[in-house]
Amino acid sequence: MMKKWRLDTRNQSLVLSSLNNRLPCIIYWGECLPRDENLDELYEASKKDWGDNLLDQIPELSILPEQSANFSGQLGCKMRDVNGHLLSSSFVFFADEVSNNSLTLVFKDKDLGITYTAGIDALYEDDVYALNAKIDSNNPIIMEWLSAPVIEAPQTSNEMLDYGGHWGSEFRSQRTPWVTGVHLRESRVGTTSHAHFPGLMIPTAGSSENLGSCYGFHYGWSGGHRMIAEQLQDGRKQIQFGNTENSELNPLTSFETAKLYISHSGAGLGGVGRIFRDFVSNSIVDLPIGSIRPVHYNCWEAVYFDHNIEELKEIATLAADIGAERFVLDDGWFKGRNSATSSLGDWYVDEHKYPDGMHPLVKHIHSNGMTFGLWFEPEMVSPDSDLFRSHPEWILGDISQTLGRAQYVLDISINEVQEYLFERIDSILNEYPIEYIKWDHNRVLPYPDASQTRALYSLLDRIRESHSGLEIETCSSGGGRIDYGILEHTQRVWLSDSNDALERLRIQHEALLWLPIHVTGSHVGPKVCHTSGRELPMSFRAWVAAQRHMGFEMDPKELSSEDKVILKSVTQWWKKNREWMMSANILRLPCIDKTVIAEIQVNLEGDHFVVFAGQSSASELSSSVPLVLAGLDSKSMYNISVHNKKEIKSLGKSDEGLMNRNLMLSGQFLMTKGLQLPKVFPANMLVIEGDKAA
Ligand code: DGJ
Repeated sequence: MMKKWRLDTRNQSLVLSSLNNRLPCIIYWGECLPRDENLDELYEASKKDWGDNLLDQIPELSILPEQSANFSGQLGCKMRDVNGHLLSSSFVFFADEVSNNSLTLVFKDKDLGITYTAGIDALYEDDVYALNAKIDSNNPIIMEWLSAPVIEAPQTSNEMLDYGGHWGSEFRSQRTPWVTGVHLRESRVGTTSHAHFPGLMIPTAGSSENLGSCYGFHYGWSGGHRMIAEQLQDGRKQIQFGNTENSELNPLTSFETAKLYISHSGAGLGGVGRIFRDFVSNSIVDLPIGSIRPVHYNCWEAVYFDHNIEELKEIATLAADIGAERFVLDDGWFKGRNSATSSLGDWYVDEHKYPDGMHPLVKHIHSNGMTFGLWFEPEMVSPDSDLFRSHPEWILGDISQTLGRAQYVLDISINEVQEYLFERIDSILNEYPIEYIKWDHNRVLPYPDASQTRALYSLLDRIRESHSGLEIETCSSGGGRIDYGILEHTQRVWLSDSNDALERLRIQHEALLWLPIHVTGSHVGPKVCHTSGRELPMSFRAWVAAQRHMGFEMDPKELSSEDKVILKSVTQWWKKNREWMMSANILRLPCIDKTVIAEIQVNLEGDHFVVFAGQSSASELSSSVPLVLAGLDSKSMYNISVHNKKEIKSLGKSDEGLMNRNLMLSGQFLMTKGLQLPKVFPANMLVIEGDKAA
């Protein structure tokens, strides 16, 4: 007996089938099928022939591959009883619950007393499927590994794209060819990590940045994930995503994966990127629609731990004059915190630095028209702190563990720890008008522990529920905890600790496939970059920040008058344009010259756009190359101009073409031949604007 289920989103269909009450297989996922597609025929068409004589039936690639089904690849679940014996399931259909947009499938193994539940929500408008898996057991069991419903990847793909990276250099995209065997990605540091962003793209053969069929996956969990992309000996490819293996430390009777979000687009990587960005904006991040993102000022790289009220006031005045609208007081404001070696956990305002509390500073910030934000790192404790001295038993892991940034992690799943942290943060938020928290997390956990992540989510929610309108930024030494799980509880990401504009240009270009620009923080750093020692022109630094949620992080006292003028004018440009940019269609623009990192942002109405073309290093070619645009109307005419001609430092011998005058060109021309870019020095950003002719 065959059961089949079909779930559609706006542009996609997903079809599952189960024969003889076995676990189902996904037999179709891609562009929407016709309404009258016959699913029996579809099932028939997916049957496979085989030529070897090892088994009399091809083991199915189900949503939970099992040993008992003779599956020879990686299994979807690994469980043990409390004595350590492996539990090999044989799940049989028990029930289904079907509605227009969601499907719940329940399977049972009566002998083991274990139930497997798969949930699939078709988020129709978002054009995304959200999948999760659950195991319930009559007796406590040990869960080593549980995958969200397993997806069969398209056989027409030759490679996959995911990300490596490290502190200060996140989102290093890497392409791996499919070969027989396993491509395994796993964060074992207890957080999402700088090195293993939980996203995967599978472009099909022949597709490209903005054309062709591409499949995207994102696992929304902040405690570290595990991803298996395996090509079986018969060519089938499976994708598994779940929490880090062995991150459930105790035997329990119920386990659940986080949500695996998947989406397909016929418009290449960029198409999937747009779907995910819109999804995050509309359905993940809790920010009032249309909320204007304020220009940030963050004092970290200006003063570090050296907080002096008069100096901070002076900095605030200067920052406001350049255009800042929110002042974020970073690390160093609390009791005894004079370096990274002490005081985490003692969340009381430092009386030496702030004898009258932070009120005088906050008043000054407000009188300059800015709002106030404050830094915390709640999940940590310094050995040199009152908190640790009174509660050494609150740390996660052994006391003799290797420290990270001279600190321990608190076991925030302990109720008293949660209460203590809530009380401290709540009372500071009650005392001061704080509308923003930068929530940091600067070391790896001694071991992965899923309960730590669950406790974090509930602490974040409790704080936001008690302080309506509060925004929280997720920071973990920059981009160590960025994923759709944390974004359900926070409203901005600190993408990287690197304020080096060249590095930032690359990082934010890569991250664009996953993160909307209104949640992606980007700051203009100090003249000499603190993470690279590089000195880059202000124009370039400012325009890189203006591509995302803009902010400043340098000591504004260091700015030359020329730099101040440039930064002010770019900030004004950003304020004028930010509203439409936040909902723009943004496409990355691959260039023949790989040293050019470019994107186009087109407003929703389609009648205005800006192209950012950044020169990341010495150009590969001796004369100018065309940059082919995308996302325009081929039949319309556009008036094109370079916004920042005067700022461009160029090697070029010609001042003709685009650098000479405005051009009127069709979308067809722009998206076929493209714009000849001038030959510019590295670390220059061309800002090209276009308006549809009436
Ligand atoms: C790491 C963050 O990423 C920095 O921006 C800064 O907040 C420091 N921590 C403070 O200790």
